[in-house]
Amino acid sequence: MRSIVPLLSLMILLTACGGDPDGAAERSAGSTAVGSNSGPPTITSEPWGVTPEGDSVKLYTLSNANGMTVRVSDLGGIVTEVLVPDRDGNLVDVVLGYDSPDAYVEGSTYFGSIVGRYANRIARGRFELDGTTYELATNNGENHLHGGVRGFDRVLWDAFTVQSGPIPGGPYDVPGAGRASLILSYVSEAGEEGYPGSLNAEVTITLTNGNELKFGYEATTDAPTVVNLTHHGYWNLAGHASGSVLDHGLELRASRYSPVDAGLIPTGELRHVEGTPFDFRTPTRIGDRIGEDDEQLRIGGGYDHNFVLDDWTGDGALRLAARLRDPTSGLALEVLTTEPGLQLYSGNFLDGSDVGKGGAVYGYRNGLCLETQHFPDSPNRLEFPSTVLRPGETYESETVYRIRTT
Ligand code: GLA
Repeated sequence: MRSIVPLLSLMILLTACGGDPDGAAERSAGSTAVGSNSGPPTITSEPWGVTPEGDSVKLYTLSNANGMTVRVSDLGGIVTEVLVPDRDGNLVDVVLGYDSPDAYVEGSTYFGSIVGRYANRIARGRFELDGTTYELATNNGENHLHGGVRGFDRVLWDAFTVQSGPIPGGPYDVPGAGRASLILSYVSEAGEEGYPGSLNAEVTITLTNGNELKFGYEATTDAPTVVNLTHHGYWNLAGHASGSVLDHGLELRASRYSPVDAGLIPTGELRHVEGTPFDFRTPTRIGDRIGEDDEQLRIGGGYDHNFVLDDWTGDGALRLAARLRDPTSGLALEVLTTEPGLQLYSGNFLDGSDVGKGGAVYGYRNGLCLETQHFPDSPNRLEFPSTVLRPGETYESETVYRIRTT
């Protein structure tokens, strides 16, 4: 048997290099033991209903050799499910979500989706670029949130699948090498939600045998614009239907955070976390200080703030940003990113009115978002790292969610 392994790897590699739009992986699947618990990760697809406009939606299933399964839709790039074995080997679904595409389109939670063209808030839905003022859709009081009324979370993306074995010397040449990826692309026309420039966005969502779920973002434009893309997953490492996340321990590699005004727009100050409930520099139970009498916690209804990542230099290198751990499942999540900021959102707007997967009721703080990003309202804050993208430049960003048992 051993002698055929390199041949199999080569076949898989060839599939990866020549990947046809949407379907190559399924066709190659016969030679890569889909569903078996060995070999490189795999990707398959199935129909998943239709959008309100009547377009067919698909759900892609990425599986790896450790029994980890991730489901992602071409609708909004939504990660609907992340099933991973806990320390006792029981499969736990660690992200909140809904059962149907309709529920995602109708909801306002952004569960598991790609958010853009600009993740987070832009004050009064307005910014100036090269002397022109642009007016964006306002969908959060007077402010613009997560790309507007119909952001990247609610559009249908073009999908392309890739799976490969180890690539000698390549980025996946690590123990348990290989990857399965869903490559999503979307053209956001000039003027969509008020943004200038037609934006070509591409997001590569990859599962590895290292239990890493990777998001690689790229975008180009034909006119100056602003871009800030992220993944808006709600994590609950005890299981999506297990209640509050307040017992999770969290570590953030951030010595400063962005205080906000009543509309959750940064004031511009980057405040040191020392002596505040925002100090997660050493692992701390989320619930320990969330109820403290702190002006910023009052405004956010809990944590809903941008943290300034200490190690960011703008060199495009992935660095550890956060660690989250649930003591009951023993599952831990590490977040690595090339981004300068991370929004910690403690699910303060969840109120039990959302019926989730399998009828789960998602109450107050039942999920937690770790949104890697450029800082909110950067288009109006020239002192923040820039989110401007110009023709000829490529926006590039990467975030890795790595799950371990502890
Ligand atoms: C973001 C925001 C929150 C909230 C959620 C969606 O994370 O920071 O204030 O709007 O999205 O409910």
